[in-house]
Amino acid sequence: MSVNALRQYLEFLKNSGIKELYLPESNNQKRLNELQHQYSNCTKCSLSQSRHNFVYGEGNPNALAMLIGEGPGEQEDKTGRPFVGAAGQLLEKMLAAINLKRSDVYIANIVKCRPPGNRNPEADERRACLPYLLEQIQIIQPKLLLLLGLVSAQTLLNNNNTLGWHRGKIHYFMDIPALVTYHPSALLRNPEWKKPAWVDLQEFQKEYEKLRLETVR
Ligand code: URA
Repeated sequence: MSVNALRQYLEFLKNSGIKELYLPESNNQKRLNELQHQYSNCTKCSLSQSRHNFVYGEGNPNALAMLIGEGPGEQEDKTGRPFVGAAGQLLEKMLAAINLKRSDVYIANIVKCRPPGNRNPEADERRACLPYLLEQIQIIQPKLLLLLGLVSAQTLLNNNNTLGWHRGKIHYFMDIPALVTYHPSALLRNPEWKKPAWVDLQEFQKEYEKLRLETVR
């Protein structure tokens, strides 16, 4: 819907005295729910043997921005939800600092099952899992990506470059602008990186606000 069409619609509601709206579950949400259910018993890689829950992803099914981490940790594996442990709490604070809530964005990971002991996911595990993420991106059609940490950046941008190389530039994945910042777990271990992470977040906010003004969802 264009901004003008939305304005006209809101004007119409106001003039008609309508104060309540019933919003149907979005098609995207329905589709994501179906797929989550369909894939929840995935055995495409060995991570399935030790996981408790397949952590598909969650958030706004029509989000302008998707945040992509590495893989579930212990709390995520227990609950089936992404970024709910200590790293998730920090991520929520980071989002709040740029006036966003986790429900504004969609949050997913490169791999959907917890790597034992929180090790990095192996190349074959990432390869096996990637179609799920690509499908989520195709459904949600975000206009901006924030890649959290090196595993996410290297996997989606298909390189072996350092985090320093990735930060501070706009990359493209499937034609979608993608920014890279530190993984929140890395920030918990190295609080001195919070300052440069704030610079990344402000860049993300600038891009996000630009898109928000141009896009009605
Ligand atoms: N770290 C991640 O990369 N993803 C999560 O969901 C939680 C911690």
